Amino acid sequence: KLPEKVIVKEVGPRDGLQNEKTVVATEDKIAWINSLSETGLTYIEASSFVHPKWIPQLADAGTVLEKIKRKPGVTYAALVPNMRGLERALKSDVDEVSVFLSASEAHNLRNINKSIAETYPVLEKVVKEAKSAGKTVRGYISTVIACPYAGPVSPKQVREVADRLFAMGVDEVSLGDTIGASVPADVDRLLDELLPHFDAGKLAMHFHDTRGTALANVVKSLEMGITVFDSAAGGLGGCPYAKGASGNAATEDLLYLFHQMGIKTGIDFHKTLEAAKQIEGVLGKPLKSKQMEIYRSE
Ligand code: HMG
Ligand code: MG
Repeated sequence: KLPEKVIVKEVGPRDGLQNEKTVVATEDKIAWINSLSETGLTYIEASSFVHPKWIPQLADAGTVLEKIKRKPGVTYAALVPNMRGLERALKSDVDEVSVFLSASEAHNLRNINKSIAETYPVLEKVVKEAKSAGKTVRGYISTVIACPYAGPVSPKQVREVADRLFAMGVDEVSLGDTIGASVPADVDRLLDELLPHFDAGKLAMHFHDTRGTALANVVKSLEMGITVFDSAAGGLGGCPYAKGASGNAATEDLLYLFHQMGIKTGIDFHKTLEAAKQIEGVLGKPLKSKQMEIYRSE
């Protein structure tokens, strides 16, 4: 039986803009987030407090978090890799902190410059401090299906990492198919391994649509009891430290799917499409979601 309602978490201002060659002006980011805040979304990942040398596109995370108009009922989150990032994030009063690591050793090393084992104590400290500052914490696991450097990743390895994150006290784990390699059979294998151990309500799916399989994977996940999905307006997204990673599942495509299936999101489809158009105008290139293609052809 499918759920009546799901939560869609918008990651475009972070996952989307981190992967664009163009550095979007701070005021354009703020205006875009303010528009997204009016769509009915309850969760927006607004930026990232990683090292600005690694992701120069989001070097203005502090200003963005400080200057957006915060809509009551919306959680504004940001990525945090370490204690330096947490200090910056707390200064800007983020609502939720997102820590992250990879299930694959090779990607973790390239993405955050540490082995998985070296990463745990760093994140443990961040989670503890974030919690004592009253913040909720999300934990991302990247490369849950495949690693661009090491190939297939076993569901067991993902479970181990998820175990560690929950033991640290994260409130939710988001499972990232970083390079968009998965098909529904992979989702089935992964969730089969995880669901006996973790509450489905504490797991989110984070699909990239590199090979056009994101929506099929979303449906598979729904059927298996998942109710939280990450997406980016306009289908922006990708990880600069994962070769071949491209856009997230597009928020407007997800909304079309859910709403046509009779599943509530609380998010306005047209306002979301307008927000996608807004950032398309800023980036000055056609965005790749199906709904944007339909819009442009009308
Ligand atoms: P590092 O160079 O190993 O850092 O980078 P370090 O700890 O050795 O510190 C070096 C210097 O950087 C120090 O300065 C630190 O203070 C400074 P110094 O003392 O030499 O003057 N520093 C910082 N400055 C500002 N903010 C910080 C920060 N940290 C250290 N946060 C680090 C390690 C993790 C910081 C770096 O590798 C990094 O920022 N990586 C981020 C890469 C990234 O953002 N990737 C994309 C996001 S993940 C993703 O997209 C996947 C996801 O969407 C899910 C999915 O799709 O799978 C989430
Ligand atoms: Mg991602």
